[in-house]
Amino acid sequence: MIHLKSAAEIERIRASCRIAAEAMDLVGGAIAPGVTTARLDRIADDHIRRRGGIASAKGYRGYPGSICVSVNEEVVHGIPGRRRLQAGDILSVDIAVRKDGYHGDMNVSFAVGEVDPEACDLMETTRQGMEAGLEATIAGARLGDVGHRIQRLVEGRGYSVVRDYCGHGIGRAFHEEPQLLHFGEPNQGRRLEPGTVLTVEPMVNAGAPEVRVLDDQWTAVTVDGSLSSQFEHTVAITDDGPDVLSRFDDLAF
Ligand code: MF3
Ligand code: CO
Repeated sequence: MIHLKSAAEIERIRASCRIAAEAMDLVGGAIAPGVTTARLDRIADDHIRRRGGIASAKGYRGYPGSICVSVNEEVVHGIPGRRRLQAGDILSVDIAVRKDGYHGDMNVSFAVGEVDPEACDLMETTRQGMEAGLEATIAGARLGDVGHRIQRLVEGRGYSVVRDYCGHGIGRAFHEEPQLLHFGEPNQGRRLEPGTVLTVEPMVNAGAPEVRVLDDQWTAVTVDGSLSSQFEHTVAITDDGPDVLSRFDDLAF
């Protein structure tokens, strides 16, 4: 069952997204060669708690971090730790926050110093894939339409869409119905109704789409060792079109 949100609930989700976006801004400013991923986790968690929220990921199914930091061939759910970023790395930072009973979720990919043009192109394509998906989240459209738009854009540039992780409804629960696959066929799947709030969060690999999970039980990496990137926003379906709840005029994302 999809919980349709009232306007007041949507504003609560936006308020949680605001804290996540502020934390993302601080993390983005701290990314540099030599910085550990644990430091980024600390910066985000400090800000979230200062603003009266809690990191949604912390303790979620036993997850040990407050945020996820996935470097290079890591696809998703990288656990922050002692690893030091190096010039030329790319990383995705996933920050989700709960405040006043509602979650907000976002993810941004960043470059560390100068990176290869191929890595830049992968990140830019992933961002455009997310944008294409967000544009398709309109009342009356179907989930398959959204996935198809993302897949078409990404595969048209010669990259692949990860199949094993999806976007999700969000609200009182971190993960709710519906599941949004980032690939699919037009005119398939459920119709989107006003009041639906979900995440669009494609993971895009430079090589093959297959991933495997490391022994830490969380970190997913590309099987072929190719680079991976991700972007995510939380969006509400409204009568006036997509309302991207984790995007703010004064922040870059
Ligand atoms: N935003 C990610 C997701 O929706 C982060 C999950 S947090 C984790 O899957 F605890 F599951 F890692
Ligand atoms: Co998510």
